[in-house]
Amino acid sequence: MPTSKNTYHPIGVFDSGFGGLTVLKEIVKTLPQYDYIYLGDNARAPYGSRSYESVYQYTLECVKKLFDQGCELVILACNTASAKALRTIQQIDLPKIDAHKRVLGVIRPTTELIGQMTHSKQVGILGTAGTVSSGSYIVEIEKFFPELKVFQQACPQLVPLIENDEADTQGAEYFIEKYVSSLLNQAPNIDAVVLGCTHYPLIQKQIQKYLPANVKLLSQGPIIAESLKKYLAMHPEMENRCSKNGQLEFFTTDTTDAFDRAGTKFFGSPIHSNHMSI
Ligand code: DGL
Repeated sequence: MPTSKNTYHPIGVFDSGFGGLTVLKEIVKTLPQYDYIYLGDNARAPYGSRSYESVYQYTLECVKKLFDQGCELVILACNTASAKALRTIQQIDLPKIDAHKRVLGVIRPTTELIGQMTHSKQVGILGTAGTVSSGSYIVEIEKFFPELKVFQQACPQLVPLIENDEADTQGAEYFIEKYVSSLLNQAPNIDAVVLGCTHYPLIQKQIQKYLPANVKLLSQGPIIAESLKKYLAMHPEMENRCSKNGQLEFFTTDTTDAFDRAGTKFFGSPIHSNHMSI
């Protein structure tokens, strides 16, 4: 357990619930030397169908909780929070809270890479209704690769199916096929698809099954891990502040039993969480 708040500066990883664990898993694999605190706002998940105002307020509250725990750097390992809350937190809230702290998201690192993945210049995004309606992927991709055409598909049933352990059922297959076909119907030449929700790596194989063999599927965990590695190398002032004892703590705003059971599946190894009141 951490000793002193003065020297304990874990990297915070936030998600609405479980999805960010797929990102944390890859980050810890790539950068095992740092301390990490994961916070899942399971009590108020899913975020995917919530308004801008709610996603922003909930995300900000959780980011502040992570700052209170000693975090100097927080990763929003949730596309919906990255799409709807990140910019306001970076531009409006951080300067008021502490101008030295940083909050990063998962959309930008993904869009920085997408241009290298496509020959046809047509790319697809699968995400929550919130992420898709925000248009964030379209805006970010346009900045790096204006020549690309971006097609999106909201998949509102996938997070509940995954969270309710129904991902291997016929019901899930029905919705996965429906969403993937609907994306391909918009543009049959799509050759790169982003899993634009941190829950989707759990059904990556099923999604791949309904895509033509030439289509590359981008899972965010490894992308975010590499991007964080680069970020820390380029920002020694932040890197020096992050504590390095290889500690990992998990918090949920809901009950810990349920979090530990389902979270283990997302993280790939057993986890033991503590409750955090919001
Ligand atoms: N993990 C979130 C994301 O990446 C989605 C889950 C939710 O709807 O809360 O968008």
